[in-house]
Amino acid sequence: MTDIRDDAFAAFRELFGHEPDGLWSAPGRVNLIGEHTDYNGGFVLPFAIDRRTVAAVAVRDDRMLRVASAFADELVELDLAALSPGALRGWSAYPMGVAWALGATELGELRADLGAVPGVDIFIDSDVPVGAGLSSSAAIECAVALALNDIWRIGLDRAALARAGQLAEHTAVGAPTGIMDQTTSLFGEDGAAVFLDCRSMESHPVRLGFAEAELSLVVIDTATAHDLADGGYRERRASCELAAETLGIASLRDLDADGLPRAREVLDEVTFRRARHVVTENQRVLDTVRLLTEDGPGGIGELLTASHRSLRDDFEVSTPELDLAVETALNLGALGARMTGGGFGGAAIALIPETEESLLRVAIDGAFAEHGYSQPDIFRVNASVGARRDM
Ligand code: GLA
Repeated sequence: MTDIRDDAFAAFRELFGHEPDGLWSAPGRVNLIGEHTDYNGGFVLPFAIDRRTVAAVAVRDDRMLRVASAFADELVELDLAALSPGALRGWSAYPMGVAWALGATELGELRADLGAVPGVDIFIDSDVPVGAGLSSSAAIECAVALALNDIWRIGLDRAALARAGQLAEHTAVGAPTGIMDQTTSLFGEDGAAVFLDCRSMESHPVRLGFAEAELSLVVIDTATAHDLADGGYRERRASCELAAETLGIASLRDLDADGLPRAREVLDEVTFRRARHVVTENQRVLDTVRLLTEDGPGGIGELLTASHRSLRDDFEVSTPELDLAVETALNLGALGARMTGGGFGGAAIALIPETEESLLRVAIDGAFAEHGYSQPDIFRVNASVGARRDM
């Protein structure tokens, strides 16, 4: 890993005047396929990437929670006794929200007793791009959750830590997201994606085999706005819930292709298309897992591209920039390409032969310039290990 560990260590010492007790890190993620399925109890196939957030943490001898980071010029502090979602603002809502969530009743009996734990100093650094749809926020949440779980000796397992991250996101930040991002950040493995059934919460690694097949998975960060707390995500989620309710099922996970003709009769046109995306996307995840397991990654391209078209046409969460990135990559011979993450901006991914990487860069830069869009950031990612203690 990079030297953001060294940077975080040094910055911590300079700011707080003593050394951290440890360093914990957690990765961002790329979702290979399975978009807007997690909150419908469906299937996802994301992987943790080789871009990480580091939390340097030390126990204090009082009850203050102090957080600082390399990306915001402020030290935020709060007495643990005053920790509540309403007291949190700005970027510090992520680490402080996690501290609060670790003591929340939703986590069950093992939760932290926030009335008894000591204060902590936290310094955060990260090389996960912010706003690219690569879950920079989940990376912060998971690094801090793992750190506090160790430091406060709470003993929660990784599934519970993922829920704490999600709870912080819902309550402290106000984004009604699913469980995919935190689960990936905590369960990621080198060279493998995480297949997750978001209903049973069972997961297992699926080998990607990109390097063996001489393929690169490239991220095209369009650097356009996307904010999950914004209306679009919430509205899509509400449509899915309305569809399930109208159909008399617990969630869209219970609808399959055979049920679509009836769904078309009872749902309005837009709600039907939202539901159709979820149904077809769940199937694409299962097909991708089967292909990867049986034949490696060479045959999954069309599924990725079909996912994009479904997100563009049925779910309507793509943008002109993401569409351009996808079409340009496909014209250049990508096996498949799609937007990744919640949409409304953010990043696309393309699966391409290793040898085409620099050509792709030139083609995308050219296409974006021609359309008057700002230059995207283009980089390769590798499936990487999930959250861990680094020091
Ligand atoms: C965001 C959310 C996830 C998931 C995706 C869409 O990344 O955080 O829970 O819903 O959007 O697949």
